[in-house]
Amino acid sequence: MAKVTFTLNDETVTVDEPLNMRFLDILRKELGLTGSKEGCGEGECGACSVFMDGWLVNSCLLPLASVEGRDIMTIEGYRETKRYKVLENAFVEEGAVQCGICTPGMVMAAENLLNRNPSPSEEEIRIALAGNLCRCTGYEMIFKAVKRASKEGEGLW
Ligand code: FES
Ligand code: FES
Repeated sequence: MAKVTFTLNDETVTVDEPLNMRFLDILRKELGLTGSKEGCGEGECGACSVFMDGWLVNSCLLPLASVEGRDIMTIEGYRETKRYKVLENAFVEEGAVQCGICTPGMVMAAENLLNRNPSPSEEEIRIALAGNLCRCTGYEMIFKAVKRASKEGEGLW
């Protein structure tokens, strides 16, 4: 056990847990933030994505030790932004949510894309979301949702 302090959704947090504990488990089991999902647990599906110092990372691959002093944003923090509202509406309008396991990771990947490229082409959207797996939708509605968000959220990204 060791104390690790970091910023989580704009608040300073200290946890006292084994340094090799997966950060996804810290979020879900210790801090009650269940928005980040566990799909594969192996860094393949993107369902557990969080931002660390502005970089999109898989929290299932992140040991607690590596978040010391870092700035973490989970889907719970992102949910408070105007950008999230645009993406949420676009996902609903396009029918891009079915079981919902992949959705938080898809939304975080979409934010990561739109933040760097506010008007992506369809191919750029496909490439940006290539690290996120969905078992339900066939992807097309998700790609359309990101395209819709890029149009409806003009000026936010
Ligand atoms: S649960 Fe982390 S990448 Fe799949
Ligand atoms: S909506 Fe079920 S995995 Fe994507």
